[in-house]
Amino acid sequence: MRAGLTKTGQKELYSKYFYDDLGTALFEAITLLPEYGLTRADLRLLSKHAGELAERVRHLSVVAELGSGSGEKAYRILPHFARGAGLTYCPIDLSGAALIRCQRDLDDIPDLTIVPIQDSYIDGLASATKLRRAGTSILVLFLGSSIGNFEPPVAEGFLETVRHNLRPGDVLLLSTDLVKDLDRMLAAYNDALGVTAAFNLNLLRRINRELGAAFDLGRFRHEARYNEIAQRIEMHLRSTADQAASINSQLRVELQSGETIWTESSYKFRTDQVRVMSDRAGFDCEVQWVDREWPFAQSVLRAR
Ligand code: AVJ
Repeated sequence: MRAGLTKTGQKELYSKYFYDDLGTALFEAITLLPEYGLTRADLRLLSKHAGELAERVRHLSVVAELGSGSGEKAYRILPHFARGAGLTYCPIDLSGAALIRCQRDLDDIPDLTIVPIQDSYIDGLASATKLRRAGTSILVLFLGSSIGNFEPPVAEGFLETVRHNLRPGDVLLLSTDLVKDLDRMLAAYNDALGVTAAFNLNLLRRINRELGAAFDLGRFRHEARYNEIAQRIEMHLRSTADQAASINSQLRVELQSGETIWTESSYKFRTDQVRVMSDRAGFDCEVQWVDREWPFAQSVLRAR
């Protein structure tokens, strides 16, 4: 955080810091907004293809979900998987509150062991893979287009790291939001209710609360714009005044009026770009399912 806020030029913060318990709850509210079509598209694809997915991933012992939230997506598919010898679902999330809800909400799926892991994606995945039973496979879910929050080289490196935690034949189900009409992409991050603005501003509130900072939230504006060349939505917090905030009297952050802190990138993809990226990371793309209502893809990626 210190490095990002004291950078010369564009200041920035990692978007993963959005997700404290309040940030996670605000994100869940975003998924219910009429303008934000991503989550509903993801859920439609899961419901439609759950049977086919279950056929493609036989002899499963572990389903690990990176960034499970409350497990609503997994709930659509877990009942379809055969689990003669038992199946373990590992929701991996930074939010303990989300994991508690997840465990409660998925409690009614028969013969399913739930092992919540409160950790970051890769450390959580490493713990989950230890639960593999000999001779069985693992399914990793990385949904919501969260991969879009990584810069492209980081996204590819991330997929490589996921691959290195897996064995040949294991499967990664990867969701990606697709490039679509500009007005739809912009509206998804500029909702009329201002929930996305609250989600964005919560980052400063969190720094105030957890690090003893004194950012004046009233002097920042939410901003989301599309960068056509980079193929991404960018979220920023724009300072509306010359201001300075001290953080725990250790660090002084100065912002000029009009200056922004870049808080998130949300890359949009074409289906062929997903295939190229996955292939480079050591996965074969077996099939891609695309939602027509809200252009959005799920790719079934087999580790080779
Ligand atoms: C959950 C990370 C995919 O980038 O669309 C929603 C987060 N940011 N509104 C996204 C988010 C602003 C979301 N991801």
